[in-house]
Amino acid sequence: SNARFFVGGNWKCNGTHASVEKLVQELNAGSVPSDIDVVVAPPFIFLDMVRLSLKNEYQVAAQNCWVKSDGAFTGEISAEMLVDTLVPWVITGHSERRSLCGESSKFVGEKTGHALDVGLKVIACVGETLDQRNSGSLWYTLDSQMQALFPNVKDWSRVVVAYEPVWAIGTGQVATPEQAQEVHAYLRTVLANKLGEETAAGVRIIYGGSVNDGNCNELATMPDIDGFLVGGASLKAPSFLQICNSVA
Ligand code: G3H
Repeated sequence: SNARFFVGGNWKCNGTHASVEKLVQELNAGSVPSDIDVVVAPPFIFLDMVRLSLKNEYQVAAQNCWVKSDGAFTGEISAEMLVDTLVPWVITGHSERRSLCGESSKFVGEKTGHALDVGLKVIACVGETLDQRNSGSLWYTLDSQMQALFPNVKDWSRVVVAYEPVWAIGTGQVATPEQAQEVHAYLRTVLANKLGEETAAGVRIIYGGSVNDGNCNELATMPDIDGFLVGGASLKAPSFLQICNSVA
């Protein structure tokens, strides 16, 4: 599609004050194309510090937020708090939260809806496990993850869909450009069936899973790949900057 290219850097649960300051300095010393969105997602404890110290070519995202407004939810951070902290983006439904924290598609859908309702933009993640792919439930899995979003999303212009096959995350086993394109085209069809071709064409569908500076160029040439969600390689400024500049 001709949607604006989007590169996300998900730092996951990594970093110290010293390493984060260094990464911010290195990102600030680099440059990224002005016609793309570059959004980094530090752990909550560094989020405001990173927001205030990164130059404004970069935006920030939270890696998660709570499903409801402020209240008795010990240990959680509400979407309202992110808005109050001037954080524009949040990631929802990352596979690590689905598998390690038991987040269901229904819960992810509700969280996505609440985040949008209070004014955040959302990077909503979907993706199948190797088992689901091998057992023939690839399309069913992706469809049910997508269907859980529809009742909760009114404005798709504020949503980026991240396709992250679980078998490719942190494994070094990147999806081939053809494998990724096949799924991205399918996800766009799912969007088009609900929202119409025109709206679907404007939704960014980004790929995540072992993206690095060596494989990004080829992936970026695929017609339905509108960007990346980068994990490991986003912790190394030279690699991440190269991925941002790989954009076809
Ligand atoms: O959100 C990012 C993804 O989980 C990808 O992680 O690039 O380390 O495989 P990775």
